[in-house]
Amino acid sequence: MTTAIDLSKFRQSVKRWASKNLRDFAWRQNQEPYKVLVSEVMLQQTTVAAVGPYFTRFIDQFPTVMSLAEADEAVVLRAWEGLGYYSRAKNLHKAAKFITTQLGGVFPKTLNGLCELPGVGRYTAGAVMSFAYNQAAPIVEANTQRLYARLLGITEPINSRVAQAALWQFAEQIVPAKDPGRFNLALMDMGAIVCTVKKPHCDECPLISYCAAANHHLQSTIPNLPPKPLMTPLLDATVAVKCRGKWLVRKRLPGEHWAGLWDFARYTLAEGNPGIANISLAEHSGRRTLAERLQADTQLKSELQDRVMVMKHGVTRYKIELWCYTAKATNCKLPANSPYEWIWVTTKELGELPMSVTGRKFAIKLSGLDSDRQPLLPGIAPENE
Ligand code: ADE
Repeated sequence: MTTAIDLSKFRQSVKRWASKNLRDFAWRQNQEPYKVLVSEVMLQQTTVAAVGPYFTRFIDQFPTVMSLAEADEAVVLRAWEGLGYYSRAKNLHKAAKFITTQLGGVFPKTLNGLCELPGVGRYTAGAVMSFAYNQAAPIVEANTQRLYARLLGITEPINSRVAQAALWQFAEQIVPAKDPGRFNLALMDMGAIVCTVKKPHCDECPLISYCAAANHHLQSTIPNLPPKPLMTPLLDATVAVKCRGKWLVRKRLPGEHWAGLWDFARYTLAEGNPGIANISLAEHSGRRTLAERLQADTQLKSELQDRVMVMKHGVTRYKIELWCYTAKATNCKLPANSPYEWIWVTTKELGELPMSVTGRKFAIKLSGLDSDRQPLLPGIAPENE
């Protein structure tokens, strides 16, 4: 199909479709490179619906690359809280610092220059080049990947080198010199609206005559996606320890889930179904393990209280049930030699720290239990690593 395609007709069909169907998002209203970069980083692995409110708030808080570069990482992570995949926020912050300190505040204007920024790959660089600079740069992201794979009839695994090479080559071939940004957006939206994952709307597709998958009735097997990872069940427990009106929290370490965010003490009690079933049947054995782990970690004398709530959530390949407890400590002295950064904070200070979504939900519950305390700012979306 790549060889036979009449490029000018193909582009005309895309353009006509765009004139009626292009979606309107906050990040499309202003195509400054900084704003395009922020939105594209947020949109990596996150849906447009979830990104909407985050993008607007983030730009209000950090309107320029300089304001982002000057912010503390904790403040940036607090703004990102609930969006998941926090390395994106850390890389975006590093990219802003790099632009201000190494590039004199001048945004890179080439694909290679953009790819040197932390967290920026070929797709994000192509998006900035085409949306912000109106340069004919190709893009392949989830929606265009599915659309192009079907148009080309790529049956190989979608992440294979051969499939990726074919997709990028096609994207490069079709992108026009005139209005490349709008063209790329149109194909992205066509992927999202017409060439959907399940039951694509082929009868409404302006590109059906070019589509190898539709021709051979292969829409349900293209793209050839990797199998979903099997989810491992985990039973975790978290404990909010209180001493003299303050809560005990620690910063999660590099290599842990939610690295750089703050959380209450948290431990895995069991992994896999049989282990979890045993502990679930006898909550007291879970409580005992939790109390022992907490004591070993913090060397605090504390009394574990009744379970406050149970949450269910997922992270990467884990399906987690999280038991939430409070404890009263009778001494507040923390060990000097702990591998963790433990601190005591007031309820108000908890509201300012970036926390994991489960930590935040628990903190909100605790602030409700603690009627003399100020309510905390809510965390919002479902979370990932
Ligand atoms: N508009 C601009 N970039 C986008 C993206 N990555 N996903 C959806 N809509 C977008």
